[in-house]
Amino acid sequence: MSADGRGLHIKQLAKHFGGVRVFDDVTFDVPPRQVTALLGPNGAGKTTIINIICGIFPADHGEVYLGGGRVSSASSRTRPSSAGSCGPSRTCASSRL
Ligand SMILES: Nc1ncnc2c1ncn2[C@@H]1O[C@H](COP(=O)(O)OP(=O)(O)OP(=O)(O)O)[C@@H](O)[C@H]1O
Ligand SMILES: [Mg+2]
Repeated sequence: MSADGRGLHIKQLAKHFGGVRVFDDVTFDVPPRQVTALLGPNGAGKTTIINIICGIFPADHGEVYLGGGRVSSASSRTRPSSAGSCGPSRTCASSRL
């Protein structure tokens, strides 16, 4: 966990699709109020990590914490279900100008 419990904490995430092991034991912190990039080659698992953080599908192992509270884990996923809910969310890139 980050020192003060703020920001986003990714703990030991693992995910596979069928026989494809996308990643294993991924741990990192994203500080609050900071633009952070997740970089890697095609197929590295960037979108999969973002989807797990946002609760679109669960991890096989590991947990996601935001502001010190757990928002997703291997056994559960939490998606904001109303406008008043808080939590990680994502938007998709668009080529429209
Ligand atoms: N729903 C799925 N079912 C099966 N395999 C998947 C699924 N989603 C992703 N994968 C596989 O998981 C691996 C990681 O894919 P992911 O899309 O997370 O990579 P990425 O880093 O976002 O790639 P890109 O840079 O091309 O966007 C790839 O081998 C991909 O084929
Ligand atoms: Mg991607």
